[in-house]
Amino acid sequence: MSYYVTTPIYYVNGEPHLGHAYTTIAADVLARHMRQRGEDVFFLTGTDEHGEPVAQAAEKLGITPRELGDANAVRFKELAVALNATNDFFIRTTDPEHMAKVAEVVQRIYDNGHVYAGHYEGWYCPRCADFKTESELVDGNQCPIHRIVLEIETEDNWFFRLSAFQERLEQLYAEHPDFVTPQNRYNEALSFIKSGLRDFSLSRQRLKWGVPVPWDDSQVIYVWIDALLNYYTALSYARPGEDLTDRFWPATVHLIGKDILKFHAVIWPALLMAADLPVPERVGIHGFLLLGEHKMSKSLGNVIEPFRVVELYGEDALRFYAMREVSFGSDGEVSPEGFETRYNTELANEYGNLASRTLAMIGRYRDGVVPDAKPATEVAGEFEGLRQAVCERLDAVEITPALDEIWRRIKLLNRYVTEEEPWQLAKDEAQAERLDEVLYTLAEGLRVVSVLLHPFMPRTVERLLEALGREDLSLDGAQLGAVGGGAELGELGQLFPRVEAEASAA
Ligand code: MSP
Repeated sequence: MSYYVTTPIYYVNGEPHLGHAYTTIAADVLARHMRQRGEDVFFLTGTDEHGEPVAQAAEKLGITPRELGDANAVRFKELAVALNATNDFFIRTTDPEHMAKVAEVVQRIYDNGHVYAGHYEGWYCPRCADFKTESELVDGNQCPIHRIVLEIETEDNWFFRLSAFQERLEQLYAEHPDFVTPQNRYNEALSFIKSGLRDFSLSRQRLKWGVPVPWDDSQVIYVWIDALLNYYTALSYARPGEDLTDRFWPATVHLIGKDILKFHAVIWPALLMAADLPVPERVGIHGFLLLGEHKMSKSLGNVIEPFRVVELYGEDALRFYAMREVSFGSDGEVSPEGFETRYNTELANEYGNLASRTLAMIGRYRDGVVPDAKPATEVAGEFEGLRQAVCERLDAVEITPALDEIWRRIKLLNRYVTEEEPWQLAKDEAQAERLDEVLYTLAEGLRVVSVLLHPFMPRTVERLLEALGREDLSLDGAQLGAVGGGAELGELGQLFPRVEAEASAA
């Protein structure tokens, strides 16, 4: 089965921050998990470089939009690398292949009769690159998102007949209850559709920074249309000499933040319908990480800056924190103190300790070889159905609940150690078989949770599995008892070392 997952393409008008890292991490978790399941995966991310938001930011800096794009696209690429993201391609909307394909699709929409010349007048937010209705404005004439004063703009441009797609969109929603998840976002998008769709302008007259309208080069294509099409165009040129469109289109899931719901859940499927192209299977919406100012942490300062966190704690800690702290789909606070608490309690104390204790006890009591035994019944019962549950959660883009399922088992294994007290069993020769069972169950439990955790914390898990002498990552093996004893354990340094603030003062 093919699985195509995307992140939004990020505006290059600023530096990457944790909000951007968030979707990239989530998409990477899904991509890695699906590869573990043996699926044919394509994972796309990239940058959105045209339009007013970028043109205006460049103007302020006294550089060209291209210069700004070139500088910041590099930063976004570096972010993906720093996060250990396995994207198969990085698209930039300034790629000539993308631009040519955008013109081609927009021409098709025009040829299909869905475009007409019109006149527009309305409140326009250049930062959103979007018109606002009267009812959306706050404090008289401000953008509800950017809180800047808006002006009425008038333009003659080309219009997309969105209103003509109302019925087909309603039908799409009726037939595909998972088209938008979670449910509250589905309801929001559907009620937007049902409230009546207005045509919108597909081109901009005053702006020069974009893809020229193929039949009227005095205008450029509206940045959102150019941007949305990236998901489709990338497949045609990501592999030189090969067109991946048939293999991966339609996309399995577009991951996006809640602020760009309307574009992805309403305009995007309508555009595809207008171009006679299949629509994606799902749009998975996440909430906002509230990145407010916080009490200073000694090592991280007062914001979670992704490059800084990675430098100090490694990318896996950031990946884990981002997926764990705020339930994917909801809004939630993130903070340096919150990060450090989870790092110390969950990563170092719960997972790290489970690993080091298990390895140390097998080293001490069984010469570093995992004994051969059956998994203890009480633990086996708790692991029953785990793999399936994780798969189902991730199929539904419920990323935080998937991680919760795994973490519950880590806590359980820690309780199991405390209850069984292997160090007492080791004192009594008559308990040798029991000790074998406990140590085997721990090694096997640790292996299973680690295989399932791999998409979340790839580097850490690889280190741990190597030390456990069992490096297979396939999901088939993610069941308690799937692998017998006999593995020789290797060395495992500290998985989550304490980070001293002093060491990072520079
Ligand atoms: N360029 C458009 C997307 C075009 S997709 C065809 C855009 N770019 S953006 O850089 O402004 O935002 C990219 C993504 O980052 C959005 O999904 C947005 O929701 C997300 N985030 C930006 N700040 C965020 C948080 N504080 N928290 C979580 N995600 C947020 O929109």
